[in-house]
Amino acid sequence: MGSKSLMTLLVGLAAATAMFPLWALTPAAASVTYDHKAVIIDGRRRILISGSIHYPRSTPEMWPGLIQKAKDGGLDVIQTYVFWNGHEPSPGQYYFGGRFDLVRFIKLVKQADLYVHLRIGPYVCAEWNFGGFPVWLKYVPGISFRTDNGPFKAAMQKFTEKIVSMMKAEGLFESQGGPIILSQIENEFGPMEYSGSAPAKAYAIWAANMAVGLKTGVPWVMCKQDDAPDPVINTCNGFYCDYFSPNKPYKPTMWTEAWTGWYSGFGGAVPHRPVEDLAFAVTRFIQKGGSFVNYYMYHGGTNFGRTAGGPFISTSYDYDAPIDEYGLLREPKWGHLRDLHRSIKLCEPALISSDPVVSSLGHYQQSHVFRSNSGTCAAFLSNYDSQSSATVTFNGMHYNLPPWSISILPDCKTTVFNTARVGSQTSLINMQNVGSFSWKSYNEETNSLDDSSFTKGGLYEQISQTWDKSDYLWYTTYVIIDEGEQFLKAGNHPILIVSSAGHALHVFVNGQYAGNAYGKLDNPKLLYSGEVRLWAGRNKISLLSVAVGLPNVGPHFETWNTGVLGPVILSGLNEGRRDLSNQQWTYQIGVKGEHLSLHSVEGSSSVEWRDASPKQPLTWYKAFFNAPGGNDPLALDMSSMGKGQIWINGESIGRYWPAYKASGSCEPCNYRGNYNEHKCQSNCGESSQRWYHVPRSWLQLTGNLLVVFEEWGGDPSKISLARRIVGSICAEVAEGQESVENWLDKQQGKPKAHLSCPNGKQLKNIKFASFGTPQGVCGSYSEGICHAQRSYDAFLKDGALQSCLGQQSCSVVVSPKTFGRDPCPGTIKRVAVEAICS
Ligand code: GAL
Repeated sequence: MGSKSLMTLLVGLAAATAMFPLWALTPAAASVTYDHKAVIIDGRRRILISGSIHYPRSTPEMWPGLIQKAKDGGLDVIQTYVFWNGHEPSPGQYYFGGRFDLVRFIKLVKQADLYVHLRIGPYVCAEWNFGGFPVWLKYVPGISFRTDNGPFKAAMQKFTEKIVSMMKAEGLFESQGGPIILSQIENEFGPMEYSGSAPAKAYAIWAANMAVGLKTGVPWVMCKQDDAPDPVINTCNGFYCDYFSPNKPYKPTMWTEAWTGWYSGFGGAVPHRPVEDLAFAVTRFIQKGGSFVNYYMYHGGTNFGRTAGGPFISTSYDYDAPIDEYGLLREPKWGHLRDLHRSIKLCEPALISSDPVVSSLGHYQQSHVFRSNSGTCAAFLSNYDSQSSATVTFNGMHYNLPPWSISILPDCKTTVFNTARVGSQTSLINMQNVGSFSWKSYNEETNSLDDSSFTKGGLYEQISQTWDKSDYLWYTTYVIIDEGEQFLKAGNHPILIVSSAGHALHVFVNGQYAGNAYGKLDNPKLLYSGEVRLWAGRNKISLLSVAVGLPNVGPHFETWNTGVLGPVILSGLNEGRRDLSNQQWTYQIGVKGEHLSLHSVEGSSSVEWRDASPKQPLTWYKAFFNAPGGNDPLALDMSSMGKGQIWINGESIGRYWPAYKASGSCEPCNYRGNYNEHKCQSNCGESSQRWYHVPRSWLQLTGNLLVVFEEWGGDPSKISLARRIVGSICAEVAEGQESVENWLDKQQGKPKAHLSCPNGKQLKNIKFASFGTPQGVCGSYSEGICHAQRSYDAFLKDGALQSCLGQQSCSVVVSPKTFGRDPCPGTIKRVAVEAICS
């Protein structure tokens, strides 16, 4: 062979390897691989729709229902992080029970015939306390998190290996016949490297190699990690990801976090993301050639206990996800995405076979066309104009595209779905009061220290003392006031100024409450300044510093401080200002009620409770109640309360803080145009979080113990328990509207209006029905100029095969025939219907 032909062969080989790397061609016993189009499972390229459900954010009793709803919503994969601090609360002491039973969760996903994407991290961010790191890790000598640091890498590797070997032992990787098709190491580390530091880069490479070395038989991803080394796949996270391409041409285009909404914090407004925009974002990604989309979150759930990150992340992690915090379908979000997924799946053969051919159809309009090997064709027609709809011509036919939308044509002819035309049902959720409580109270100690207290010179960082075993740390010091102090005679008072790194603070002087201060979502630091009533002689100043969730994101957040670091100053004395910062301070971790376990059934019976005396700071309340009948989810309305924590039968519901009102702007929301987390918010001027989820499985039939620790002095007599119920369901569908379901039923051209009640409920009443030109929205429909007289009848007997009443679900064909006659020929009509489930 001449040197030229040898060269050609080598170049050819190199090019082939660039397109098809060797691990993709000869995977050692691996059943999951990938190429530039998609993840390949058992030899088949797949378009995978995934959704995040974090197991500790719901109860094991809720898991099967959530997973089933995810499956019904068209998901192929459930994605979860692994929460290190939940699994290793102290070094070497592992916990995998209850809400942290990871293996049980994964096995349930397998039972439902879905796959798992396991994001081991073990840094997870996730608005989870300390980003998932155990607090003890911070106190390992010489440690520095997420960088080229020996102690950190050793701990990270140990935990990662622990999880991988557990999964292997249970046979849970796809290569072993299990459901796990993908894993993730680290989380969004790329942005930490922008500073260009060599140790950061070395750490990222180490993390990738360490993970790959664990030989799981399934691919690893690193999200937001542009330099992820082969064979690790770099993936995108964001509100939109159609701009994204992986770092090698032979890796698939994957979106690991398509944000369905956003988290909320105490003091912040509550974000919502319109499904029309979310569906548009996902479709943009698919038409670009993306083959894996994970909704973050598909079910957000609840930050039970003290698992919320922060500071100030709220207890609700609802996220405006397709399944709400309580496990109910959020409609139309869930249903519209289900229809999207069905439509995408119809295009799968074409999507996995080719890259799109993109053509312009107008200034802001494009077509993306895919063809399969067998010749089938799928098209996406997009209109990026955020203001106007457009009519485009494609293959000689006309298509109407609403603003900021994409139509999906699985045969390159028929529109089965448009991201902005929602045909699935809407539901209105109500909180139905089921009763209040009869309270007893116990006043927390504000003036005594017990044997566990200790004294040190100066002010110490809070977490270094508590190791986060409690939110609370008392800082107590004494001040001697001379009889000759002017203020004693003048009748005015000195001012106490306390600087704290956060997050909240209560001030007591000689056992009396003096006031409080707290930080904000974007700045946890606080400054307390207030008059203090001091007497001649020895005065006691007690500062109760409160943590509200440890930081979960930011460069080296493990070094960020909490608590009273000073200065602590008394001003208005004869000497001017007295700096108390370097005095002797006595520390006590936790409040007395915690030491007594007042939250638990046994602990609560160890003290004398009195008839409730409301409006006093630092008070424990307890009440007993019976479980309301039925299966509807339950919540506590805490709107009359200030700030504190709640327990039911000893289980912690989490922190509450309804007195922290949401700041921010709650402008009217429109799905059109680029979304960001500030765009469509609610609750401005109201409690950031008023309702607190009470899991059904934590209740017995009778005699449930509810304990509340109130810091501010709220009024417990107004706390109530509520059922979360689907009040009304509505559907609105136009004549001739596209419908993926009809396409699947091969009944093109006759869309149906569907009504479906939650499991165990039936359609009890048709509140409104109009075929014609109805006005308004679900909950406030009215008849328009055109209205078919028999609009109601169609749902009661004629149109439906049988009356809707008494059924869990029913559907009615949207055509004049169903409604007797055409009420206004020549006009395009819609049906709007509102029904009650009970
Ligand atoms: C991402 C992060 C997630 C979560 C999300 C915001 O950047 O990877 O863990 O924190 O932001 O909800």
